[in-house]
Amino acid sequence: MPRFSTRRVSGESVSPRHFELSGFFSPTRFEADILDCVVTGTIPKDLNGAFYRLHGDWLYAPKFRDEASLSADGYISMLRFRKGSVDYRGRYVRTDRYTRQIAARQQLYGYYRNPHTDDPQVRDIANPGRRTSANTTPVIIAGNLYATKEEGLPYQIEPNTLDTLGPTDFSGAWKSQTFTAHPKFDPATGETFAFGYEASGLASRDVYLCSFDRSGKVTWEVRFDVPYPSMLHDMALSKDYVMIPGGGTITSAERLESGRPHWAWDSKRPSYYAVIPRGGGAADIRWFEGPQRSIVHTANAWNDDNVLTVDAPVASGNTWPWFEDVHGAPFAMNDFTIRRLTFDLHGNNSQPREDVLFEQDVTSFTRIDDRIATQPNRYIFVQYADPDRPFESHLPDDPRLRPVNCFGRFDVIDRTVQSYFVGSTHILQEPTFVPSSPDAAEGDGYLLGTAHNLKDMRSELVIVNALTMQECARVILPFRNAFQVHGAWASLADLPLV
Ligand SMILES: [Fe+2]
Repeated sequence: MPRFSTRRVSGESVSPRHFELSGFFSPTRFEADILDCVVTGTIPKDLNGAFYRLHGDWLYAPKFRDEASLSADGYISMLRFRKGSVDYRGRYVRTDRYTRQIAARQQLYGYYRNPHTDDPQVRDIANPGRRTSANTTPVIIAGNLYATKEEGLPYQIEPNTLDTLGPTDFSGAWKSQTFTAHPKFDPATGETFAFGYEASGLASRDVYLCSFDRSGKVTWEVRFDVPYPSMLHDMALSKDYVMIPGGGTITSAERLESGRPHWAWDSKRPSYYAVIPRGGGAADIRWFEGPQRSIVHTANAWNDDNVLTVDAPVASGNTWPWFEDVHGAPFAMNDFTIRRLTFDLHGNNSQPREDVLFEQDVTSFTRIDDRIATQPNRYIFVQYADPDRPFESHLPDDPRLRPVNCFGRFDVIDRTVQSYFVGSTHILQEPTFVPSSPDAAEGDGYLLGTAHNLKDMRSELVIVNALTMQECARVILPFRNAFQVHGAWASLADLPLV
């Protein structure tokens, strides 16, 4: 499939205006408004609010052929639901990176998270967060909307116009150069927990972890060092603990100074897990470790007095096609399965117990009914590839994976899976769960997710009843939208929507 190559051609430069000019995933490079989108089926009348999606859409072609798509420029879109109709809006996030590239009319930035490879006019080694592309997750904290990416500070976004209001350190309260794309909200207390890693600069070992209260005020902070710097993409939150998994990915100042991509994979490095008591200090952290693992996202966590339980999609090796193996092994995709990690909080065992809950291969994009976060949940939602479903073989598919063609509702109590198949010409992205009402039972609501229609070269938002796993409606966009990383639903109570 014509897409930026995932083959390593180390250091080979491309023309700043060289794009792969065909294929579904080529850059779109435009902004749009559509009033009253075309819809098939019937939009549920109880969907009132906004579905935000954050994408990566290259403004200019990456400088190197083996660049990770992780650096594509941030683009936020909104599907605004009003009593059965939907409006679309899409805008680039006006990051410092965006502004400088537009002014120069060319790509100025090198490898993902390596400012040593940037053009001298923007190179800023001491402030690497300045080059963030803000392309990963739309995040809502205390009534404000942010475009986040773990390499820098969040950019605040006006939730109706999608205008970029600028980067924020929360009025000076946030004391890290970086901010995770996966903060966690505790529905029981109204608190949000977030962290930044490589907090004091490139390849540093320090992590900064905070809680915000319901009003957005920082109420607790702790700083600690990890065993070795590694990609810390997500966290887990239970009633009493924060858990941050890491390991496998490695970096160093020497590696960055030599002009190489930020991350490599070391299969001989252990995975590690920091279990941090909420409200505690660095000395209270329990450290666990295990064999090499790739844990990109978590699904949920809960604890009693003795045990912390975390459900997550876990792979037993490298899942990043762009990150070279330091031992020279060729990349081979390790599949994720939904596993349960159990941490004995008072015993002497320094390894978590790991149980595979489902043998089905899935992607790493698990979501839950967020109202159940920090408590034992029943359902995990995720998109996955079912190779037994039909696919029109003349169409291109993603070169790294089989066509991701199903949403699954994984019942961790009954250990059953109910699926929704999107069709033989489509590829699905992350499902976001939206409850049908604030007090509906767990899983009573809808899954919203983007489908790439490879046949008609357009993007469609699929709305699926999460109880029956039957499709309710599709919102048809008359163009391709760049690939979404994550999405978020905002009700009228979450943001000041007009
Ligand atoms: Fe993520």
